[in-house]
Amino acid sequence: MMQRFNSDWAIEANGLVKIFGHNRAVDGVDLRVRAGTIYGVLGPNGAGKTTTVKMLATLLRPDGGSARIFGYDVVKEPQIVRQLIGVTGQYASVDESLTALENLIIFSRLLGLSRTEAKRKATELLEEFGLVEAAKRPLKHFSGGMRRRLDLAASLIAQPPLIFLDEPTTGLDPRTRNQMWETIRRLVNMGSTVLLTTQYLQEADELADRIAVIDRGRVVAEGTADELKTSIGNSSLQLKIDNPQHVEMARQTVERVLNARANVSADTGKITAPMADADRVTDLLIALREANIQLAELSVQKPTLDEVFLAITGHGVKGEESA
Ligand SMILES: Nc1ncnc2c1ncn2[C@@H]1O[C@H](COP(=O)(O)OP(=O)(O)O)[C@@H](O)[C@H]1O
Ligand SMILES: [Mg+2]
Repeated sequence: MMQRFNSDWAIEANGLVKIFGHNRAVDGVDLRVRAGTIYGVLGPNGAGKTTTVKMLATLLRPDGGSARIFGYDVVKEPQIVRQLIGVTGQYASVDESLTALENLIIFSRLLGLSRTEAKRKATELLEEFGLVEAAKRPLKHFSGGMRRRLDLAASLIAQPPLIFLDEPTTGLDPRTRNQMWETIRRLVNMGSTVLLTTQYLQEADELADRIAVIDRGRVVAEGTADELKTSIGNSSLQLKIDNPQHVEMARQTVERVLNARANVSADTGKITAPMADADRVTDLLIALREANIQLAELSVQKPTLDEVFLAITGHGVKGEESA
């Protein structure tokens, strides 16, 4: 199949723009995704992730810029592009009165598999997605999580070279999420390329070879998870102050001594700041003692992607709750 590709890049996007009314939802996005990798597009709700994916998947026409999928232009050669991609969500309109097994067999047959092959493939996928129990139930009795898994299973029958997964695990319970991660890794081991959007920093950290951090329609940082983490300093300081009234003074002291932006967590009262050099912690302790500020906890560790996001954008990624 490789010889059909014009390029080693599964995705090359240059200056993609999409405008809704006065809203520049996607405001000049560049992306380069190497074939055979998992690429994470990380950003909060409304950042422009879905709009970007839709343009790359030929479902939405860009207002500016251009994009190629394996070398094929999404606007000029959409038919070729569509043969090379899978987008979860597009199989949502399966027959509700048929069972999960029947649905998957029909998809397999539509994609040209023989009857025995279709049956084998469908059974295999249902097993992998933990849907064996539900295989004989009509779709209308499926929960949201089961539908999501069936949807992904259906999109995998064709094993397209490039798969777009738009927030594949949002709202899933941790067990199902882990199962999904395993499946995504397996897909890439079988030779597919995956572009995955997510609001979960941990998900990007776990899965993605490279990550683009997107905020308000723009890519604000790009690199491997490690590169992103070291870009804000080699270590991260966390400290907790005994007296809540001293927190603001402590924050200012941290900023002065470390010469970096420090953040105070609203719920825990913990102060975090990037540190270029862990040795500076000595200076900080002296400064805090001189200011008569009592410490409850102090630790120095590798920065998390959460801190990276905060440092880059000045605001956090929304937590677990959003769909
Ligand atoms: N069809 C549309 N019409 C108008 N505005 C839209 C449309 N789709 C998305 N938007 C807006 O574009 C911005 C980006 O949305 P979206 O790409 O869905 O972000 P994300 O997927 O990162 O949550 C948001 O402000 C959203 O309200
Ligand atoms: Mg979205």
